[in-house]
Amino acid sequence: METAFVAGATGYTGREVVRLLRARGVRTLAHVRPDSPRRAERVARFEALGAEVDATPWDTAALAARLRALSPSVVLALLGTTRARGREASRRGAVETYETVDYGLTRRLLDATLASGARPRFVYLSAAGVREGTANAYLAARARLERELHESGLPFTIARPSFVSGPDREEPRRLERAAAIASDAALAVAARLGARGTAARWRSMTATELASGLVRAAFDRAAEGRVLDAAALRG
Ligand SMILES: NC(=O)c1ccc[n+]([C@@H]2O[C@H](COP(=O)([O-])OP(=O)(O)OC[C@H]3O[C@@H](n4cnc5c(N)ncnc54)[C@H](OP(=O)(O)O)[C@@H]3O)[C@@H](O)[C@H]2O)c1
Repeated sequence: METAFVAGATGYTGREVVRLLRARGVRTLAHVRPDSPRRAERVARFEALGAEVDATPWDTAALAARLRALSPSVVLALLGTTRARGREASRRGAVETYETVDYGLTRRLLDATLASGARPRFVYLSAAGVREGTANAYLAARARLERELHESGLPFTIARPSFVSGPDREEPRRLERAAAIASDAALAVAARLGARGTAARWRSMTATELASGLVRAAFDRAAEGRVLDAAALRG
């Protein structure tokens, strides 16, 4: 049986990835940190799906030991913070930035995977617009991780969706949702005018659309070593 380890399992995308992995009959480890908001609710939902909840601390050696024991075929890195969450964290005296979460925790997971001796496919949820030399902190964190993943020697697949947005997101991100709707409307016009490829690359995806693309790609040999945009993720 295939085994998947999902970091960021409690997020908008992660929850759908766990559901779809289970629907496919994959043994699924949903990683949930002890201080995760709505932990009890998330754990109950994962257990109802037949997923195993993994509470390994965010420590490279502990994660490496866990991955060595599991020997997963796939590790999915679906982690990320937002500026709003960063501000909330700083009120608790914690530092949560694109550098510490989006890059830092994903790098820790990559280090643990390398140290585990297992050679799973490392599926990294990045973002559209990533490029070297960008001044944007969000994109720069992803560019760095993408480069280091390429250099790591692990089999990988990188996903670069545009907006991940839908009416079903529990956490209200009104600005992001409004931007996604406006951008989709503009892209629909562009597609009618002939720019179908551009529109398909930049159109927003719901968590379900993105998760089905991620799960399909994770087990598709042809997706190994590839960077997939929204159009490729839709299949
Ligand atoms: N939203 C978009 O339009 C968009 C577009 C392209 C790419 N992306 C990227 O796709 C990824 C997933 O997006 P999403 O919308 O599904 O994210 P999300 O719903 O915000 O979920 C983020 C995940 O990261 C975890 N996380 C955040 N801070 C953490 C911390 N300090 N320690 C441990 N875990 C932490 C969360 O765990 P807890 O539940 O425990 O906090 C959650 O599982 C992110 O990297 C995001 O930047 C997003």
